[in-house]
Amino acid sequence: MPPLQGIPTRDFVAIAARVEPEAHRLIAQYPAGQARSALLPILHAFQAVEGWVSPEALARCAVWIDEPLSVVESTASFYTLFHRKPVGRYVLQPCRNLSCIINGAGDVMRHFRERLGIGHLQTTADGTFSYEEAECLAACDRAPCMQVNSEFVYDLTNEKIDAMLQAIRDGTYDVPALPQSAVPAHDWHVSQEAKKKSPGAQGVPDPNNSGGLGDASGARMIARLASDPYPVDVRPTRERLVADAATLLIAPPPAKGDH
Ligand code: FES
Repeated sequence: MPPLQGIPTRDFVAIAARVEPEAHRLIAQYPAGQARSALLPILHAFQAVEGWVSPEALARCAVWIDEPLSVVESTASFYTLFHRKPVGRYVLQPCRNLSCIINGAGDVMRHFRERLGIGHLQTTADGTFSYEEAECLAACDRAPCMQVNSEFVYDLTNEKIDAMLQAIRDGTYDVPALPQSAVPAHDWHVSQEAKKKSPGAQGVPDPNNSGGLGDASGARMIARLASDPYPVDVRPTRERLVADAATLLIAPPPAKGDH
């Protein structure tokens, strides 16, 4: 993909320096030992600067709040609010859950896919739109609904969607664009993180898209956890995991082939 116009070379040290004062201000709002409570707003602060939450940002958060990197990663991966790969300037997230499906989300999703020419967890070639079909957004009374860069849009119709896409392309839409610190790839799936995932998640074919009602992934994960040969009590301690995050910041992982 050719470089997009206007995306500067990414400088994570400068990005972290911009976020750090806000992070310390947020952490100071909580009693000593409760820095973890500031994690969500710190992740938002990183995303407001970068447009996504990078692996380096997750590692930096772990050091600031003095928690294992796994705590930070599991928090960031739980919410569709956080994008763990570079995304387009507008992230479109229609809901695909029950109330919305009953009220026409199937047509909404089909319309988005046709108009954008991309599918779930993909980005348009010009870097403008990323698309993700999200689970219940807790606005079921205004179904079908969606979020656009985390702002709600309710009672969707095809006409409303067309007007929204046109306004975004014209630069007149009233939701601000996300910053872009890196060129988004066509696909923004976060691939399975091998041994870093719990044993239950390993081998699940697509952890980003487990398949919804009736999918067997959950049952497979529980079965795998029950027969886990790696006992919980010999796993790395909390202190070891905190140190791992700090190490990541100091020494980036070796390039492919460097062993
Ligand atoms: S089902 Fe769509 S917001 Fe709840």
